[in-house]
Amino acid sequence: PLAATGTLVGAAAARHGAVAAFNVITLEHIEAVVAGAEAADAPVILQISENAVRYRYGRLLPLARAAVAAAEGARVDVGLHLDHVQSDELLRQAADAGFGSVMYDAARLPYDENLATTRAAADWGHANGLWVEAELGQVGGKDGAAPLDAHAPGARTDPGEARAYVTGTGVDALAVAVGSSHAMTTRTASLDHDLLKRLAGGLDVPLVLHGSSGVPDDELAAAVRGGIAKVNVGTALNIAMTTAIREFLTAHPEAVDSRKYLGVAREAMVRTVSELIGVVRG
Ligand code: G3H
Ligand code: ZN
Repeated sequence: PLAATGTLVGAAAARHGAVAAFNVITLEHIEAVVAGAEAADAPVILQISENAVRYRYGRLLPLARAAVAAAEGARVDVGLHLDHVQSDELLRQAADAGFGSVMYDAARLPYDENLATTRAAADWGHANGLWVEAELGQVGGKDGAAPLDAHAPGARTDPGEARAYVTGTGVDALAVAVGSSHAMTTRTASLDHDLLKRLAGGLDVPLVLHGSSGVPDDELAAAVRGGIAKVNVGTALNIAMTTAIREFLTAHPEAVDSRKYLGVAREAMVRTVSELIGVVRG
C-alpha cells in the first residue's frame, strides 16, 4: 500500500537500517521497483525527479498517477517522493497527486539563500502534509560565490553548518555530502565514514545518501550503520535496464516487439532493486 515516507524512514532509522529510494523514469522502472521490494519483502520509496518530469514533456501527473496506482496495489509499503525539486509549482502538484515527501534542492545557492528558500519550502510542505528533505554540501557563498555542487566528488557537509541549517530550515531529513557523487557508472566511491559519524552524532534528523549507485556494497552497508536512513539510487537501475536491452537486441537483431526487450530490462531492474534493498535494509 501507499505509505508515508517519513514513517518508513523513521522506522528504518530507529532500527539503524535504511529504506532504499529508487528514481523512476518509465512505467517499467515503477513496476520493477515494486516487484523488487515485494521479492525482498521490504518497504521502498519510489521517487520522481524534476529532471525525469522534464523528460516527460514537463508533466508530472502521468508518471505520478502510475506510481500512486503501483503503490496502492503493492504487497509492501511504498512511499512516493518528489526528488531534486527546484520548482514550487511541481511541489504543489506532487502534494496534490498524493506524494508524501519531497527533496527540495537549493544546494546550488549560497548558504543564506539556500536556508531562506528551503525554510519557505519546508513551511509550505509541512502545512500541506509533506515530509521535506533538503541538501547541504560544501558551503561557499561567504564571499558571494555559489557553492560547489553538493555532490561534486570533493564536496563535504560541515557538521556545524548542518546543525544550524537543520534548525534554521526545520527540514525533516538532510542529504549530506560525504564522498558519493551523482551518476557514477562504476562502484568506486569511498565514503568519509568519520565525517558521517560526526554528522549523525550532531543531528536529530535522518540522513540521506545521494549518488548511491557509485558506492560499493560494503561501503553502503557501513554508511547505513553510520546513520544513513534513506539511500537514493538512480543510475544503477539505468545501467541494469540499458545493459539488458543492449544484450537482448544484439542477440536478437530481428526483434521488433518492445515487450520483449522492455521485459528483460524490467527483470534486470527487479534484481538490482532486491539486491540493493538487501544491502541497505540493515
Ligand atoms: O536523488 C537521486 C540519487 O542521488 C541518485 O543518484 O543516479 O548516482 O544513483 P545516482
Ligand atoms: Zn540525488
